[in-house]
Amino acid sequence: MSLTQDLAKSALEAIVDPVTQKPLGALGMLKRVDVAGTTVHAEIELFSHASSGREAIEAEAERVLTQAGATSVELTFSANVRTRQVTGEDPCPDVKNVILVMSGKGGVGKSTVAANLTLALHRAGARVGILDADIYGPSVPTMLGVQGRPVSADGKSIEPLERFGVKIMSIGFLLDDPKTAVVWRGPMLHGALQQFLQDVHWGKLDYLILDLPPGTGDVALTLSQKIKVTGAVIVTTPQEVALMDVYKSISMCQKLNIPILGVVENMSYFMDPSGNRNEIFGRGGGEKAAEFAKAPLLAQIPMDSLVREWGDNGTPVVQAQPTSTVAKAFKELAERLSDKITLALNESYGGVAPTEGPKRLKILR
Ligand SMILES: Nc1ncnc2c1ncn2[C@@H]1O[C@H](COP(=O)(O)OP(=O)(O)O)[C@@H](O)[C@H]1O
Ligand SMILES: [Mg+2]
Repeated sequence: MSLTQDLAKSALEAIVDPVTQKPLGALGMLKRVDVAGTTVHAEIELFSHASSGREAIEAEAERVLTQAGATSVELTFSANVRTRQVTGEDPCPDVKNVILVMSGKGGVGKSTVAANLTLALHRAGARVGILDADIYGPSVPTMLGVQGRPVSADGKSIEPLERFGVKIMSIGFLLDDPKTAVVWRGPMLHGALQQFLQDVHWGKLDYLILDLPPGTGDVALTLSQKIKVTGAVIVTTPQEVALMDVYKSISMCQKLNIPILGVVENMSYFMDPSGNRNEIFGRGGGEKAAEFAKAPLLAQIPMDSLVREWGDNGTPVVQAQPTSTVAKAFKELAERLSDKITLALNESYGGVAPTEGPKRLKILR
């Protein structure tokens, strides 16, 4: 049997996307198939740039096309990220996903997670922005090595600053002295957040990551009134004492109808030079928080001095040392989070109940 366009197309369409557990054909993920002799070019559109299913789809496509008689397979991947619900009043309708990074507690690594997540998503190919809404201690400017005052080209919208290809806005850019941040309360805070979402020229973004201050009551409440966010990522550390505050922020999200996309356990363990895993802060915090939130534990990020050193140096470790173990943990977080967003948003697109496909792939989670 010789390889035909139809044969190649149906072989590819039957591949099951490991993230949604549905065949590529049913999901409209196969965008183009060209067969020239025994060479196949195909374009597959993923639901996110960082999709954990990409490698498995690639391997399966090679396998089924070779079986169908192809001698050369060239695949192009693109991504069309799902969009949160956007109403007429939305302050930033061109931003597909708004993700809150939060925790009841300070010092657990919210800003570190927000900055590295931003860069991991960007490095996977997505268009990403980060909004530092921590009025008490804006640290994104330091972590991303950006300073300066945003300018307005038209007197209406504010241009965000940019570094490493991501758009950055911080309350810190507007303060002469970061210590004055403490007085930003109530109406000023509401106004500032509104401006940051509405008047900052974010352009078209796949993800806007918001680094929230600890004890996020005010900010989360304001946000939930102004915008339909995709959801929240809760950051915790492994020890029991951190949990009470983390539980409070989870319940607050639940009360405000902010979906919890998952939990990140930061400073989970420390690998000593002889390769032993030390759980210096205890264990179980991430799992307990995830259970309480009825959400997945998306990542366990090790304690690694590279994180602090590069954070202080203005280049997050994901960018500075992308092949390090800790950078890989952040990369995996980006994959799992974007898969979770795909699933959560697909549900509102009419459901993606798992189907038993004939060529069911291993789930990479
Ligand atoms: N996984 C980690 N390993 C080592 N240091 C970390 C890690 N995560 C965070 N840190 C460091 O801990 C400090 C607090 O982190 P930060 O992200 O500012 O916390 P938060 O935003 O929750 O207050 C920073 O100095 C940061 O570099
Ligand atoms: Mg912070």
